Amino acid sequence: MKFFIDTANLAQIKEANDLGILDGVTTNPTLMAKEGIKGHDAITNHYKTICEMVDGPVSAEVLGIEFEDIIEEGKKLAAIHKNIVVKVPMIKDGIKAIKWFTDNGIRTNCTLVFSAGQAILAAKAGATFVSPFIGRIDDGSWDGVQLVEQIVNIYNTQGFMTEVLAASIRNPLHIVRCAEAGADVCTCPLSSILGLLKHPLTDLGLAQFLNDAKSMQ
Ligand code: G3P
Repeated sequence: MKFFIDTANLAQIKEANDLGILDGVTTNPTLMAKEGIKGHDAITNHYKTICEMVDGPVSAEVLGIEFEDIIEEGKKLAAIHKNIVVKVPMIKDGIKAIKWFTDNGIRTNCTLVFSAGQAILAAKAGATFVSPFIGRIDDGSWDGVQLVEQIVNIYNTQGFMTEVLAASIRNPLHIVRCAEAGADVCTCPLSSILGLLKHPLTDLGLAQFLNDAKSMQ
């Protein structure tokens, strides 16, 4: 399973990248706005900086919701850097646009996916990635990871090449369960990635080893 970081924060991207386990980055308008990025040039420069930091796919989301706007924006985003993947919402014009991007050699990430039916449409249109939102499904008292399992099964059965990118990850257990479910990619906040490191027995064991090591000096 590939690890992407779900943020537009450069310090967090650097910290995850320095671990040596980062395969890519996903952003969305909320994450970009959180960094105070405003205006066309600032947005373009920010994506360029991320692409130069991380050697892997960087999802940049279109803001338009009509076919022509999505295509124009997507073409400009894809031209910023070879690492850019155009993120397109799961709407009718979005599916049309994903098909157009597929036919024109531009990689896409179909976002805001909450059902298996939506995931089938994204795959039919040739999306490179499909992003089911695990945490937001859990917020409604359903089990988001079950949707990942269902999409993985359908894609395997049907031979769809679209990669299942588990998004809206909120904790380390989500990452573990998505790995079990066969997700191709998990995009996570830095806190969830670092949470994977934690175990009290590791801390206790290390404290004892360090203490015993003193007696050997
Ligand atoms: O990038 C999309 C997704 O990961 C958003 O996560 O926590 O806002 O539901 P969240």
